[in-house]
Order: sequence, then C-alpha cells, then structure tokens
Amino acid sequence: MKILIINGPNLNMLGIREKSIYGDRGFDDYLVNLQTKFLGTDLVYFQSNSEGELVSAIQRAYLDKVDAIVINAGAYTHTSIAIRDALLAVKIPFVEVHISNVFAREEFRHKSYLSDIAMGVISGFGLYSYDLAIEALIIKLKS
Ligand code: DQA
Repeated sequence: MKILIINGPNLNMLGIREKSIYGDRGFDDYLVNLQTKFLGTDLVYFQSNSEGELVSAIQRAYLDKVDAIVINAGAYTHTSIAIRDALLAVKIPFVEVHISNVFAREEFRHKSYLSDIAMGVISGFGLYSYDLAIEALIIKLKS
C-alpha cells in the first residue's frame, strides 16, 4: 500500500514555529518514526509552501498510483478551492489531518474546504494525528 503524506505551508517550520501549539519536533525527524512504525506501508512525503505545487503533487499521485493521501494543507485548508478540486479530480481516498485542534482555535480555522470530501478528519493530537490517519487508512483500505 502506497500512502502519500502531504504537508502544506509553514509545516516545514515544525519545531521552530509556535512551539506551544505545534510542538518542538520537526517533521523530517517524525517521518522516520512513521516509516519505522508502518514498515509494510510505502510512505511517501511531500511538503510545499505553494498552493500550485500542492495541486501538482495531488495530480501526480494519480499517475503514481498512490492508494491514499494523508493531507495537512495548513492554512490552505481554510481557503483553497484548488486543492479541493484536485482531490476531487484524482478521487484518491484521503484523510485531513491537523496537529492542533482547529475547532478550539480562531473561528476562521473552523472552515475547511476539504472535510466534507475527506474519508475522515483527525485534529488535535499533535504529530500523533498522522499516526492515527495512517492507521485508519490501512484498516479501511484493507477491509
Ligand atoms: C494546521 C492548522 C491550520 O489552521 C494552520 O494554518 C496550520 C496548521 C494544524 O496542523 O494544526 O498551518 O493545519
């Protein structure tokens, strides 16, 4: 099973940015953890700060025969019709992930352009949100 993890803007700053919200660990380091934990799964990672590059990565996932996507679109979650359209176009099942609990934060973070077309949404468990998303996808796609 091939799962693509996509991180959007500012998530390359994990470990530096707003540590009280996002923690003190960078994602590159955490990815090694995930790859060790989910050994039987091909976990591929892509991060970009730019909306168009995120759209292109989602389109590429179709050609690369990716089975599922875990996406933390960062702030684009709350604004991007283009990312929504890309996910609709490729029809690859995906889980929307957030490190923080977006519903416990500012109101503008309560709106998501992705949630209603996602297989599920995981928000608020720190980096462990990614573990939960991958676990859920593995169980769901196997059944
Ligand atoms: C985030 C929440 C978003 O509102 C924010 O813009 C991010 C990170 C999260 O993982 O908690 O960049 O997606």
